[in-house]
Order: sequence, then C-alpha cells, then structure tokens
Amino acid sequence: MVGSVKMIGVVGGGQMGSGIAQLAAMYGFDVCLLDLNSQALSTASSSISSSINRLVSKSHISQATASDAFKRLRFTTNLNDLSVADFVIEAVVESEVVKKTLFVQLDKIAKTSAILASNTSSISITRLASSTTRPQQVIGMHFMNPPPVMKLIEIVRGADTSDETFAATKALSQRLGKTVITSQDYSGFIVNRILMPMINEAFYALYTHVATKEDIDTGMKLGTNHPMGPLELADFIGLDVCLSIMKVLHAGLGENKYAPCPLLVQYVDAGRLGKKRGIGVYDYS
Ligand code: CAA
Repeated sequence: MVGSVKMIGVVGGGQMGSGIAQLAAMYGFDVCLLDLNSQALSTASSSISSSINRLVSKSHISQATASDAFKRLRFTTNLNDLSVADFVIEAVVESEVVKKTLFVQLDKIAKTSAILASNTSSISITRLASSTTRPQQVIGMHFMNPPPVMKLIEIVRGADTSDETFAATKALSQRLGKTVITSQDYSGFIVNRILMPMINEAFYALYTHVATKEDIDTGMKLGTNHPMGPLELADFIGLDVCLSIMKVLHAGLGENKYAPCPLLVQYVDAGRLGKKRGIGVYDYS
C-alpha cells in the first residue's frame, strides 16, 4: 500500500503537525496541512518556511529541493480537502474527546483505503480507533519533537490494527528516513512511559528544593549526556503536554508514582506552558 501513498494529510498546525508536514514534503510527498484556525495555519506556514530556509542556508539541502518541498505543500482550513489523501496523520491537541471527534469526521471523508494515524503521545489507539468504522486501519505514529530532526517514530498498534496497516505505516516511516520502534497500546507507550516520569521527578527535585533549575538541567546534560536537561526539555515539549501525559500515565497505570508534581500543575495553571508561551520553568522573553 505504501508505494501508492502520494498525498499525506496532516491535521493540526502546531509544532508537531507543521514539523511532520515539513518532513513529508521534503521527502517527496504531496502534503495537505489542515488547521481549522487560519491564524494557526499561517504561523505553521511561516515556521515551515523559516525551517526549510535555515536548512538551505546551512547547505543541508539545495535551493531546488527546498523549492520542490514548498510546491508540494498545501494549507487548508477545509476538512473535505483531506478526502484525496492516501494517509492521514492527526497531530491535534492531546485530548481524547477532541481526537475522537476528529476521527469520526476523518472516517466519513477519507478514502476508504486511507490509513488514519494518530501522533498521540499517550492516548489509547484502541479507543480512538473504536470511534471509526475502520479500526483495522487506525494506528499510532508517534513522531518526536522536532520531527524533521529526531530519528525515531514509535508505532503503536491498537487492538484491531491490521498487519497490513502496520506494515504500510512502518514502510512509510522508513521512507521518511526514520527508525521505527513498536509499542503495544498501553499508557505512554515506550518513550513517554520512561521520559515523563523523569521530567516529573525533575519537577519534584525543584519543588522540594533539592537544587536550582540550572543545576538539575546541567546535572542531566553533563552527567548523562542528554542534549537538553529535563526542565529545559519540558519547556520545549510544553508543560501542558507533559502534564496531560502524566495524567494519562497516572489514570492508566494506576500507581501513585505517576502523580503529577504539584509544581508542574501550578505552572500550567499559571499559563507558564514553556517556550511556546515565552515562559515556563525558564523565562524566554
Ligand atoms: N527543522 C529542521 N532542522 C532543524 C530543526 C527543525 N525544526 N530544528 C533544529 N534543526 C537542526 C538544525 O538545523 C541543526 O542542524 P545541524 O547541526 O546539522 O546544523 C540541528 O538540528 C541542531 O539544531 P540547533 O543547532 O538549532 O540546536 P541544538 O544543537 O540545540 O539542537 C535539538 C536542538 C535538536 C532540539 C536538540 O537540543 C535536541 O535533540 N534536544 C532533545 C530533543 C528531544 O528530546 N526531543 C524529544 C522530546 S519527547 C517527544 O517529542 C515525545 C513526546 O511525546 C513529548
């Protein structure tokens, strides 16, 4: 099936959706990026342009490759435009209600042969799939942030995902230059099951005055060779996203060790959502 994927629909113009759209266009796919909010779409369009232009200025790609990628990208606020997509990747807000509502709509308008993939970082693929009439063609395709740079895609099989859908998604991920890991459909999958408790623990260390934020981050950067410290990474991912994943882990795995740190909760309540808001653990203004 994957050989026949020409057009990829991406839903959601945030940092993940725009990164996925950029990646797919650079790898030769026609891409239609949808966001219902035209302002979000224009922000996505400028962030993709500046990211691609940065790659040209660093001589990572040629001007011709960049121009081809721009030609393959289309932006829309009309869901019906995705009716021609061979493969749809959803990257909207991390809310089960919102994603399920979207999957109901996608199921109605997408080609019957199309695979519907979710970039969810922790929500059950089985439950998302159950809102459609094609659960065998629903799968988790979890990109890491930033999608054009990070080498991994975590594929998540729902209870009814078919072998054919899995094989097609794996082949597509490889065509996008990524290494694939496969997870069963349990809260947090592989990466966030391990990463988010570490980030949450860093918040506990800050909350209980073990150390300053700078020393916590430097400890993990230089002590364990992580490119970013856990608090800096939380700001990069978005504190609201981290909190919602901790809540999914806590509810799904039912153990107190997954309870979100009160400081993380308080930052989110205060609107300190991280880099995207100019303030999180750190101040970016
Ligand atoms: N598009 C294309 N290329 C990009 C890019 C983008 N959006 N952002 C960065 N790059 C490229 C740059 O061009 C640069 O390339 P070269 O080194 O070849 O010139 C390279 O990436 C490094 O970028 P920078 O020099 O700007 O910055 P950096 O060296 O500080 O690296 C980083 C930035 C790649 C983000 C690095 O800090 C990093 O790897 N951080 C950890 C990221 C991480 O852990 N992501 C996973 C988060 S968890 C997740 O996503 C799952 C979830 O569900 C929450």
